[in-house]
Amino acid sequence: MRVVMVGTGYVGLVSGTCLSEVGHNVACVDLNEEKIKLLKDGTSPIYEPGLENLIRRNMEHDRLTFTTRISEVLGNADVAFIAVGTPEGEDGSADVRYVEAVAESIGKLVERNLMVVVKSTVPVGTCDLVEETIQKQLAQRQSNVKVTVASNPEFLKEGDAIGDFMKPDRIIVGLNDPEGQAVFRDLYGPFVLDDQGKLLFMDRRSSELTKYGANSMLATRISFMNELSLLCERLGADIDKVRQGIGTDPRIGKKFLYAGPGYGGSCFPKDVAALLKTGEKNAVELEVLNAVTRANVAQKNRAADKIIAHFKDLNGKRIAVWGLAFKPGTDDVREAPAKTIIQKLLDQGAYVVAHDPQGQGNFAREFGDHERLVYADSSYEALRGADAMVLVTEWSEYRRPNWDKAADMMAGKVVFDLRNQYQSQELHDRGYHYECMGRPD
Ligand code: NAD
Ligand code: UGA
Repeated sequence: MRVVMVGTGYVGLVSGTCLSEVGHNVACVDLNEEKIKLLKDGTSPIYEPGLENLIRRNMEHDRLTFTTRISEVLGNADVAFIAVGTPEGEDGSADVRYVEAVAESIGKLVERNLMVVVKSTVPVGTCDLVEETIQKQLAQRQSNVKVTVASNPEFLKEGDAIGDFMKPDRIIVGLNDPEGQAVFRDLYGPFVLDDQGKLLFMDRRSSELTKYGANSMLATRISFMNELSLLCERLGADIDKVRQGIGTDPRIGKKFLYAGPGYGGSCFPKDVAALLKTGEKNAVELEVLNAVTRANVAQKNRAADKIIAHFKDLNGKRIAVWGLAFKPGTDDVREAPAKTIIQKLLDQGAYVVAHDPQGQGNFAREFGDHERLVYADSSYEALRGADAMVLVTEWSEYRRPNWDKAADMMAGKVVFDLRNQYQSQELHDRGYHYECMGRPD
């Protein structure tokens, strides 16, 4: 099929590349000229494991192209995806202006029957808006081209994006007219060869709400486990044991039960806020979700407060921070817990030396300069002269540090493990002060 992917960010680029990998002909469009220039040279503008190789391979096979101009590629398309950003607006609702702008362009340019697929995460009713916007343009041009609008939210996780897209747990398609199903069987058939039942069709509004429901449910699990971990600290219980005990119940499941410094990322915080707003607009008080948000803000602060409580006075202390991205495997630092933690440390007068295998550039750009914040070229370099090390993001290269080497480089032997990656005994044996989240220190 001939596919146009509008928006070449984390979702559009992965989706477009994976669709080309199974043989579709994909043209990716983005307004950002810098991104498109890099992509045309075969360079990925984002870090996602395995993505650059896949991009290059499909470019070589002429199945994947990049442009800043939708007008160059829409003419041939069977399917046009909208995968642009839907950031949090000032009142907490999702800002769909970029989605609307793409719908308007499509309405102005489309010349043949087309399936328009909204892949961005959008509030319920946005597909109706997209349809109206396109129809308005078609009416103005007196065009009788048939355009169908479908909802097809994306469930990939950054860092595992290619695996998630190539082997999905399910693909949700919201269509008001079942006639459009054939297009999706063609498009996604190669991704669900093992189980065609993974392709779930439903109405558009249910599909739009499924995406917010899923992200909010996952955020709820994390906030609940974070609160339980605090209770573990007070009661002398171990959150790792409690997690294993809870997770063996198949009704609960083992995944997404890890306590940490609060969830971050470009989606959970904004999607929870947007669903709360949807509730408010429809006179439904989403009390659980309100609490989830409050608990997450508290958890990010609590992580920093552990460090402040230990030192009492952080003035002039040097703190090494390992991990800036909101999770391992990505260079994305949107809503990263590291931002809250580092800001609090700086506010208390500390010097911060930060390291991240991929996220340093984005972090420096988004966080801005601070005279007491510097970046290190390697994780060990960050430890030089540090009074403490704080593990914020559990990159695999941080998993098994050489504690003796670390002790030689640090001024103080203090470790705050906000991801419960290390064994307390190992650190105590070497004379470290060690604190973690919800486990006996
Ligand atoms: P992103 O910010 O990385 O990328 C969005 C891209 O759209 C940018 O490159 C921007 O230049 C481009 N764009 C904006 N307006 C445009 C226009 N009119 N024409 C062409 N390009 C335009 O965003 P993202 O993280 O890929 O997220 C996209 C959507 O997918 C959001 O709704 C998000 O909630 C959802 N989502 C994201 C993830 C994720 O892991 N990041 C996962 C699932 C769903
Ligand atoms: C999340 C969802 O997992 C995806 O299904 C969804 O498509 C995506 O949001 C989206 O809509 O954008 P992502 O944000 O990339 O994916 O990453 P996650 O692995 O979900 O992690 C989110 C945050 O939760 C991270 O800060 C992570 O450290 C934290 N987390 C995750 C925990 O604190 N504990 C856990 O057990 C799991």
